[in-house]
Amino acid sequence: MEVVLITGGTGLVGGHLTKLLKHEGFAVRHLSRNPKPDAAVPTFAWDIGKGNVDPKALENVDHIIHLSGAGIADERWSEERLKVLYASRVDSGMLLLRALEKTGAWPKTFISASGINYYGAVTSEHVFTENDPPANDTVGKLTQAWEEAADAWAAHTRVVKLRTSVVLAREGGALTKLAAPARWGLSAPLGSGKQWMPWVHIDDLSAVYVHALRDREMNGSYNVAAPEAVQNRDFMRALAQVFHKPFFAPNVPGFAIRAILGEPANLILEGSRASNTKLAQSGFAFRFPKLGEALGDLLQ
Ligand SMILES: NC(=O)c1ccc[n+]([C@@H]2O[C@H](COP(=O)([O-])OP(=O)(O)OC[C@H]3O[C@@H](n4cnc5c(N)ncnc54)[C@H](OP(=O)(O)O)[C@@H]3O)[C@@H](O)[C@H]2O)c1
Repeated sequence: MEVVLITGGTGLVGGHLTKLLKHEGFAVRHLSRNPKPDAAVPTFAWDIGKGNVDPKALENVDHIIHLSGAGIADERWSEERLKVLYASRVDSGMLLLRALEKTGAWPKTFISASGINYYGAVTSEHVFTENDPPANDTVGKLTQAWEEAADAWAAHTRVVKLRTSVVLAREGGALTKLAAPARWGLSAPLGSGKQWMPWVHIDDLSAVYVHALRDREMNGSYNVAAPEAVQNRDFMRALAQVFHKPFFAPNVPGFAIRAILGEPANLILEGSRASNTKLAQSGFAFRFPKLGEALGDLLQ
């Protein structure tokens, strides 16, 4: 049985992915800051600040999936917070690399989460492909550093970076926040409502990770976005429809959202499309290509 070690496996994506990997016959381990004795899979400790990893976590590992990361939109981007965002993605990846350098027992695959905001929080008609350069804004720079830490593994193992769009799930993430007012008939476009909102159903994202583990031809960066591209106002309208509510609320002004959230508001108020052609060419087929079906599955 192949062993998969997941960093940040206790989170939203990690929880779904762990279930799918177990179902597909992989043995799963987690690397966590706070291993729980009653965890569903063997869970080992690491301390990124102190540079410690439990060596047992790394024994006979076939694949590593690097999901750890403090929430990018959870807080304002103070200098302190940015250090946490970088340490949890970049330092953590390098810590694991150094730990394996000591043993020389390299896994076959290193798959890292990455974000579609690699291309920047910008509203445009450009459809970004993997050949586009990273943006020079806060999250663009963070994501570039995150991917560079993943690339450092390429001398030893196959590296895949999944530039992930907004993940739609029942239990958390953006959808639960957007759906709460929509249930009460208060779904409204955010800001101009014209910003594009690339998205992916959590089951499809989990399936992409498994696909990337198995397909040894996959290498480098891949955009992960469902085929149906929507703008924010279409997304908010689709939410209202799922709950059979009318959709006539006025736009929530961008300045109000910026006043509450600060710079992270850009992640909500701006956005462009991302091409999934490279992923599709690797043979991946989305189970939820259309937003209405994804929302119906998750919310009804
Ligand atoms: N959800 C999305 O819409 C989305 C979109 C694009 C990219 N991504 C990326 O995909 C990855 C997984 O996302 P997710 O939604 O599953 O995130 P999540 O639910 O917030 O889980 C992330 C995990 O990272 C670990 N973590 C949190 N803060 C940390 C810190 N300061 N230092 C080290 N580890 C920390 C936690 O594990 P422990 O507590 O066990 O250590 C946590 O369970 C993240 O890197 C995220 O940025 C997510």
